[in-house]
Amino acid sequence: MTMPTILKKFETNSPEETYALGRRLGGELAVGDCLAMTGDLGAGKTALARGLAEGFGADPMLVSSPTYVLVQQYPAGDERSLFHLDIHRLGAPEAEFDDLGVDEMLAEGAVVIEWANLATAVLPRPRKDITIEITGLTSRRFTITAVE
Ligand SMILES: Nc1ncnc2c1ncn2[C@@H]1O[C@H](COP(=O)(O)OP(=O)(O)OP(=O)(O)O)[C@@H](O)[C@H]1O
Ligand SMILES: [Mg+2]
Repeated sequence: MTMPTILKKFETNSPEETYALGRRLGGELAVGDCLAMTGDLGAGKTALARGLAEGFGADPMLVSSPTYVLVQQYPAGDERSLFHLDIHRLGAPEAEFDDLGVDEMLAEGAVVIEWANLATAVLPRPRKDITIEITGLTSRRFTITAVE
């Protein structure tokens, strides 16, 4: 197994900056891509997802915060969608992850996962992990790692 490679680090100083970061990263997303987000309550996973949705071509208003459903699908044109999963809502994330049908989602879109650390062993590969650290009241650090 190859070691994960740190690709990039970003710092943001407001929810708006996080949104803009998400939008930029979302513009680089393609069908079949998986982003696995890890960060504490209120770290900004959903805030980033909202930007990702817009960058990918979906309506960011569809991204609710906090997420109350397990899987949300945001249509993004050309029969592509962004799928937004919050596996915190699963009783036993690692055991139940396979039943979500993530492979089918990856065939028709990109997949963004909140609380990915709860099911690390069964997450799709290859993927990118995004770790979000709360570094201050309104500051956040994003570390993006490639997992082969
Ligand atoms: N730089 C920042 N980037 C993102 N959010 C920020 C930032 N600074 C402050 N915040 C605040 O942090 C909170 C982030 O909430 P968000 O719902 O995105 O977190 P989350 O990681 O999805 O949490 P949860 O685990 O509950 O789903 C919001 O209240 C937002 O206003
Ligand atoms: Mg959230």
